Amino acid sequence: MSAILYDVKAPLHTELLEADEAGIRRAAEVVRADGLVAFPTETVYGLGANALSEAAVLRIFEAKDRPRGNPLIVHLGEAGQLATVAGEVTSRVREITARFWPGPLTLVLPRAPVVPLVTTGGLDTVAVRVPDHPVARALIEASRVPIAAPSANRSGRPSPTLARHVRDDLDGRIELILDGGPTPVGVESTVLDMTGDSPLLLRPGGIPLESLREALGPVRVVAGADHEAAGRSPGLRYRHYAPRARVILVDPGAGETAIQPWLEAGRQVALVSQRRIALERPRLTLRVMPVDLEAYARDLFALLRELDASGVETIVVEAVSERGLGRTIMDRLRRAAAAS
Ligand code: TXA
Ligand code: MG
Repeated sequence: MSAILYDVKAPLHTELLEADEAGIRRAAEVVRADGLVAFPTETVYGLGANALSEAAVLRIFEAKDRPRGNPLIVHLGEAGQLATVAGEVTSRVREITARFWPGPLTLVLPRAPVVPLVTTGGLDTVAVRVPDHPVARALIEASRVPIAAPSANRSGRPSPTLARHVRDDLDGRIELILDGGPTPVGVESTVLDMTGDSPLLLRPGGIPLESLREALGPVRVVAGADHEAAGRSPGLRYRHYAPRARVILVDPGAGETAIQPWLEAGRQVALVSQRRIALERPRLTLRVMPVDLEAYARDLFALLRELDASGVETIVVEAVSERGLGRTIMDRLRRAAAAS
C-alpha cells in the first residue's frame, strides 16, 4: 500500500573528496547532472552549479538560503569564453581581462540571453570572472559549462576558506565538497561594474583599488550604504559576513579600553589586534593578526569562525589601514559589525 515517495527536503549525503583528478572528474559529473559542488578558488570556496541551467541555479539559492534577488558570479575557464555569457565585450573590457584574469576581479557586463535570469537575480547584467586556481579551472573545463558560484557559506555567514567551513554550513544540502586546502587570498573578488560611463567599484576584494586605478585610470567608488550602489550591487543590501558573536570595530590602540565593560560584566570577549598585547584576564581571548595585510586577509574569515566556535560573545577588532587589501578587510569588518 505505502508508496515510496522521493522527499525533496530529505538531507542529501554530502561527499567530501580530495581535489585530485578523480575528485574533479566526479565533481564535473555532478555539475553536468544539475547538482551542487563546493570547490576552492583563489579567493574563497564557491558553491558551483551549471550557470546556464535554471534548475541547477535555483538549488544554489535553496542550499544557501540566499535571497533570490542576489545575483551570482559566473565563472569561466578562460577569458576567451567571455562572449558566450556577456552580450557585449568592448576592447576596453578585453584590455582589463588581459591584465587581471585569471584572478580575483569580477566584471559586471551586459548579459547574453543564454544566461538565465535566475543566475543574474533578474538583472540584465551578468557578473563574470576567471578564477586563478587550478582546481576551479580544471572543474570548469571538465564540466564544459560556465559555473555559477557564490561563496559556499550559508547566507549571512563568513565566507569559507577551508573545506571544513563549507561542511559546517552546507553538509546535507549539497552533493559534493572538493577539498583543495586553504584558499590563498581569503577574501572574495573585487566586483567592478563596467556597464556605465566609467568603471564603478561595487565591492572591494582581492584586487586592491590602487591596482585598478593604476591600470585603468579613474575608478568610481560608492559607499555600501549608498542607495544607488545598493541597487547596482544587490549583494550590498543583504546581511553579510556575520559571525554569531557581536563584532565591535574600534580605532587602533583602543582595544584594551573597549573590552573593559565586557570583562567587568563577566562576559566572554575577544580582542583582535595587529599589536601584541600583554594582558591576561579570565574570559579574554587575544588574537594577534599579521601586520602584512595579505596575510591578514587570508586569515580573517577563519578567525571569525574560530572565535564563534569558541563561544566568545563579543569580538572587539581594531581597525586596520585602508590601503591595499586593508580597504577590503575594513569593508568586511564593517559589515560584520553592522550585522551584529
Ligand atoms: O571571490 C568571489 O567572488 C567568490 C568566489 C566563489 O568566486 N564568489 C562570491 O560570490 O563572493 P557572492 O555571491 O558571495 O558575491 C557576489 C557579489 C554579490 O555582492 C552580488 O550582488 C554581486 O557580486 N553581483 C553578482 N552579479 C551582479 C550583477 N549582475 N550586478 C551587480 N552585482 C552583482
Ligand atoms: Mg558571499
